[in-house]
Order: sequence, then structure tokens, then C-alpha cells
Amino acid sequence: MNVLLLGSGGREHALASKLSESPILNHLYICPGNPGTALCGINVDGNPESIHDVKNLVLHHQIDMVISGPEAPLVAGLADHFATDTELANISFIGPGKIGAMLEGSKDFAKEFMKKYKIPTASYETFTAETHLSAVNHIQNTSGPWVLKADGLASGKGVIITSHREEAIKTITDMLIGKSFGEASEKVVIEEFLDGIEVSVFVLTDGASWVLLPEAKDYKRIGEGDTGPNTGGMGAISPVPFATEAFMQKVKERIIEPTILGLKKENIPYIGFIFIGLMKVKDDPFVIEYNVRMGDPETEVVIPRLQSDLLELLQAAANKNLENIKPVFKPLHAAAVMLVSAGYPGNYPKGLPIHIKEKFADSTIFHAGTCMKESQFHTCGGRVIAVSSLAPTLQNALDASYRQAESITFEGKYYRKDIGADLK
Ligand code: AMP
Ligand code: GLY
Repeated sequence: MNVLLLGSGGREHALASKLSESPILNHLYICPGNPGTALCGINVDGNPESIHDVKNLVLHHQIDMVISGPEAPLVAGLADHFATDTELANISFIGPGKIGAMLEGSKDFAKEFMKKYKIPTASYETFTAETHLSAVNHIQNTSGPWVLKADGLASGKGVIITSHREEAIKTITDMLIGKSFGEASEKVVIEEFLDGIEVSVFVLTDGASWVLLPEAKDYKRIGEGDTGPNTGGMGAISPVPFATEAFMQKVKERIIEPTILGLKKENIPYIGFIFIGLMKVKDDPFVIEYNVRMGDPETEVVIPRLQSDLLELLQAAANKNLENIKPVFKPLHAAAVMLVSAGYPGNYPKGLPIHIKEKFADSTIFHAGTCMKESQFHTCGGRVIAVSSLAPTLQNALDASYRQAESITFEGKYYRKDIGADLK
């Protein structure tokens, strides 16, 4: 098979690396890719959100399957073109169409969906500029903390949590009236605050059947001890010790099954990944968010634990044949540590040379924000490299990733030293 993978981050490097091992792969193309994906396949120029660019690549390279790494092409409706354009009708596409992608692209849509299918989630109300006064009243008549969520995509910055009533009122006013997130905050969801511990679960579905991938825990804040601003993710581990069999059984029964059933009942075709962000409150799972893609850096710990062939799994999903598939996972622990540029998640410099003093066999270096200049890797993003290791214990996996992380240098390199420390 010829495969076109869309995206350019650490997630795509992890996916490309696994896809490149598939016995049924002929050529792997990555659009636009990064210097890491270039080691696994052929990077090709183009904008993954442009149907024109993607269609040209598909026809030119005789692509059999397109996989969207990020959500933006899906929210833009790329998959729908594959369903309706006769020239593309025989090409498999991994990722939902525009309506399915609203599970991630619209918080209000996702909350309505969960309410309708009785999927446990924080209680909520949705407000617009017209109902701004009711939103203010709502905050005045409830006790905090208040969780305010811009309805649309806001690059991971659209959720504001505050325990100060005045700040909550100012924020909701900025969002609804000041349009502080542009179109994304034309609607705002105010949610009940859930007090618990987060875990991410990953499902691959063909719209009727589904398989569960290993769960992961992401470390989102920039500072050690989960302090400071949110980032795209500073590290991840898998498996997650508190995601016990009994807990995962509840996740399957109360969340995954009704989600897939809901999609079917709504006539929303869905071939692709669903990443469910959960809060474990006491012993019960509640959905915080749906994403219609894999996570980053969660992919860098989930995919290395997959023993089975990823491309075969994706092909089964595309052929609506997941029912007959039982993926096998390695009984090992994975730990990923993200190396980031000085200043991230704020402003940061780019174009700094990266030196890899030593490469250790038990770690993988996944490129996230790197560029190639004069035959040398340079920084060109906030999150630069995810170092991921597999080992028999979490401690061994962490030790290996930290050893590899130390041997990679660039000016201003920062990483959290406490990934997984809360779970040891
Ligand atoms: P989201 O973009 O929906 O994933 O939200 C970003 C982060 O805000 C999540 O990873 C949680 O840490 C936190 N969060 C979101 N919703 C809630 C909630 N209802 N209660 C507590 N924390 C939340
Ligand atoms: N690491 C969180 C995400 O990919 O959304």
C-alpha cells in the first residue's frame, strides 16, 4: 500500500516510524513531515488542510490510504471530499468527516452529544453574546471554581479555570463580548469543575466496532509539580497504574460503547481515532473532552507499545472489519519526555543547532519541532524533541528517557524532570 500521512509533529514521527515497519507498506509519504519523518518515508510539500494539495498528492503518488495526524484537516472537512469526489472514492481515509470532527471542533456539540447519550461528563450550560447576562447571573449564583470553555478550536488555550468570581465574570465577558478567541468564543460552555486525576484513552473505530489502544497520562503544564501555563504536553507515560481493569471496564461500558452507539444513531460515519480525555473522580470516569485524533505526546508512548501492525489495523478500520481484529500490545512501560525551547509556551527562539552526543538503543528520538539546515538538525518549534523509551518498569523507562534527554543539547533546552514521578 502507498500511504500519505498528514502532519509534522512528534505524533506524526511516531506514527510514521511504526507504519514504516509494516510488511504491507509500499511507500510512505508524509505531508509536510519533519526531519524525523524523513527517516521513515518521503516528505512531500503541501498544506494538509488544502483539498487541492492533498488530492494532487494522492493522485500523483497513487496513494491507497490517507491518515490525518492533526484535527485541523478533519474539522475543515477533508474526509468529506474523499467520500464525495469520484476520483478519490476508492482511497481509504483515516479520520472522521466534518460532522464527526465536531466532537473536537465544538465543545457545545460534544456536550449535547454526551447529554443525549447519557455519557458521564461535567454538567454545563452554553452561552452566547445574546445571553451574556444570564452567563454573568450563572456565575453569580454558583460556587467556583468555574470552568469556561470556548466552543471552537483555540489551539489548546480555550479553557480557563478560575476560583475568583470577578475573574470568571471578566473572562466570560471578554470571551463573549470581546471575542477574545475570535469565532471560537462566539459560544462559551460553563462547566462544573471536576476534582480528580486525568487519564487519556484511545480508541480506533470503523463506526460500528472499535479496539482500545493503551491508555496514557499526559503532563500538560510547563512547570514541575504541574505548575505554570498549559502546553501541548511535556511528557507522557503508558500504562497508567490507576487505570485499573475495573476502572477501564467502566470506561468501556459508560463511555466508549455509548459514544460509538451515539455516532451510529446520529448517522455520523466515523473511521479513525477517538482520543477521550477523562477525569477519574473517586472511582468513576467522566469525559473532559473528545479529540478526533491521537494525542501528542501520548502517541509517542502509545504507538511504541503496539506489537501488532498499525497499517493492518488501519486497513481493517477502513474496510469496516475491526470486529475481527484483536491488537496485541507489549507488556512494557513507555515514558516520553519533551525537550522544549526556552520561553515555550510563550515566545521562543528558533534556528538553534541541536547536538545529539550519544544515541542509546533503548530510547527513540521523535522529532517534533526540528528543521534540517546544512545537514544538521536545528530547533524550529516550541516542542522540539520527544524522547521515548520502553522498559519493563516505569522507573526503567523514565531513567532511559532522561539519560537520552541529557545527551541531546541545544541552547536553552528545558524539560520537566518529574514526568511520571507522581505514579512511581
Ligand atoms: P480541554 O481543552 O477540554 O482538554 O481542557 C483543558 C484542561 O482543563 C484539561 O486537560 C483539564 O485539566 C482541565 N479541565 C477541563 N474541563 C475540566 C473540568 N470540568 N473540571 C476540571 N478540570 C477541567
Ligand atoms: N497532549 C494533548 C493533546 O494532544 O491534545
